[in-house]
Order: sequence, then structure tokens, then C-alpha cells
Amino acid sequence: MSRNAETLQALFAAARSAQANAYAPYSRFTVGAAILTPEGEIYSGCNVENAAYPQGACAEAGAIAAMARAGRRRIAEILVSGDGDGLCTPCGGCRQRIREFADAATPIHIAGPGGVRASFTLDELLPHSFGPEHLNSGDAP
Ligand code: THU
Repeated sequence: MSRNAETLQALFAAARSAQANAYAPYSRFTVGAAILTPEGEIYSGCNVENAAYPQGACAEAGAIAAMARAGRRRIAEILVSGDGDGLCTPCGGCRQRIREFADAATPIHIAGPGGVRASFTLDELLPHSFGPEHLNSGDAP
């Protein structure tokens, strides 16, 4: 296996393992996410729902929190795993969460039970996005 294929397999395994611990009693839709950092580390998360529905958290948010807790600040690649027939692409809010720590070209892999189904760049999923650098450009009014 090439190094890239090995890395993708490790991301997939981490996301599936996280997905197995998802708490999704309301939607019954479990999701796992795994982040690869430029340092080569992997951080994962699962969705955690709540009886007060809007308080539920997405898998991507959990993975980002684990990454930040470890002191890491960049996403090199991210993989999201969900079951079902459709592509489990990140919700709009999570696209923005990923944007905070990623580049336009950062790969976002979407997996199902059998492996990766599709890969996108962040810019494909969130074009013309707003990010941290916008706060530092231009003259303040
Ligand atoms: N969900 C995620 O965790 N990540 C996604 O990319 C899509 C949706 C969760 C939120 C909720 O707990 C369940 O999936 C159904 O929307």
C-alpha cells in the first residue's frame, strides 16, 4: 500500500471506530470523523445528540475539539463516515468549522461502511468562504 493509501486507511479506521461510539438515539444516524494533522497525528470524534435537539453536536465538531485539545491547529485532511446510501457530507456549520483550520485545497473524504466514496476539497464544499484572515484585512470602519 502506498503511504497515501495507508494514511487514508488509518483515517477511515479512526472515523469508523469513533462512529461506533456515536450517541444518536434520536436520528439513529451515526457519524464519525477523523482529522489528520500536518504532524501525522489523527484525532477523531462522533456525533453526540441531546434530548434538547439543537444541543446535539456533529462528529466533525468533536474531532476538531480533540485536535485543539492536543494543541494542534491545522487540518491536513479530514474523513467523515456515515451509513446510508447518500454521501455524508459535512453540514454547513461544520464546513465553516473545518474552514477555520484548513486551506482551500484541504481534502475532505466522505466514507460509507465499505470505504471512501468521494473526495472533495474544502473550496468545493465551501466556495468563496469567510475565514480568520478576513478579520485582518482592510481598514476597520
Ligand atoms: N451529523 C454529523 O455528525 N456530521 C455530518 O456531517 C452530518 C450530520 C449528525 C448530526 C445528527 O446527530 C445526525 O448526524 C443527523 O443529522
